[in-house]
Amino acid sequence: MLSLKQIHKTYYPGQPNQQTALIDINLHLEKKDFITVIGSNGAGKSTLLNIVAGDVQPDGGAVYFRDREISSLPAERRADFIGRVFQDPLAGTAADMTIAENLALAQARGRRRGFRLALRAAGRQEFSRALKNLDLGLEKRLDEPVGLLSGGQRQALTLFMAVMGSPQLLLLDEYIAALDPRTAEQIIAISSSIIREKELTVLLVTHDLQQALRAGNRTIMMDRGEIILDVQKPQRDQLTVAGLLDKFARVRGRELTEDRLLLQAR
Ligand SMILES: Nc1ncnc2c1ncn2[C@@H]1O[C@H](COP(=O)(O)OP(=O)(O)OP(=O)(O)O)[C@@H](O)[C@H]1O
Ligand SMILES: [Mg+2]
Repeated sequence: MLSLKQIHKTYYPGQPNQQTALIDINLHLEKKDFITVIGSNGAGKSTLLNIVAGDVQPDGGAVYFRDREISSLPAERRADFIGRVFQDPLAGTAADMTIAENLALAQARGRRRGFRLALRAAGRQEFSRALKNLDLGLEKRLDEPVGLLSGGQRQALTLFMAVMGSPQLLLLDEYIAALDPRTAEQIIAISSSIIREKELTVLLVTHDLQQALRAGNRTIMMDRGEIILDVQKPQRDQLTVAGLLDKFARVRGRELTEDRLLLQAR
């Protein structure tokens, strides 16, 4: 489904603020793989997702989607088969536009269909039926600006929009980090059913080690631009959060201390 071959990324090369974010990353995802990505702050997790989405250009290596090299395909074109949700609930939707308008934009993107067309009655009915499934009452608020929604409602909408164009790959970057625990659980439940139903391949970045071991079928741990651990089911089922931290310490010869959230997980 997705292959990253020898990806390398240094921001501001040769300058005083040079930052090497990824060093020789090789990663292969099969269809329906659901990989959770963990690692300290600055490990390169978001850079990895941004390179897959086409928002960041690697300075070495290649990205393949279903055996086709997509390294030079712009992000807008990759949006046809890649959906994404960011950490910031404000990032995925346009605040000044209504729910219906946001949905129409997402639909026009996925199906290469006109925005106006999607806004017509048939489109609205379709939106309202689909939103009903989220069970957040959003179907009754189609004409409200998205800016009036709560963070959780907005993230649910973003998720919904991200999968509207029927992508095959879904990138989730700490997408529930800004939500309260109850809303976070709700969004996780909604995403799980969408992922299952649409048989999506997923890359999920999280700082919640418990969630990382529970969700999906495979976990990779990154540190300083490298993948230092890659464990799949059924071996992963034996792994605990303490075991994960222990593995990190053994591979890197130091404790995983950079991250506040990871420490909380102990
Ligand atoms: N746009 C950018 N310009 C310059 N440097 C960047 C940029 N984005 C990321 N970096 C640097 O690249 C490295 C990896 O950053 P990245 O955002 O990928 O880490 P991360 O694993 O997502 O961290 P976090 O858990 O804090 O989100 C860091 O050293 C960071 O400072
Ligand atoms: Mg990040």
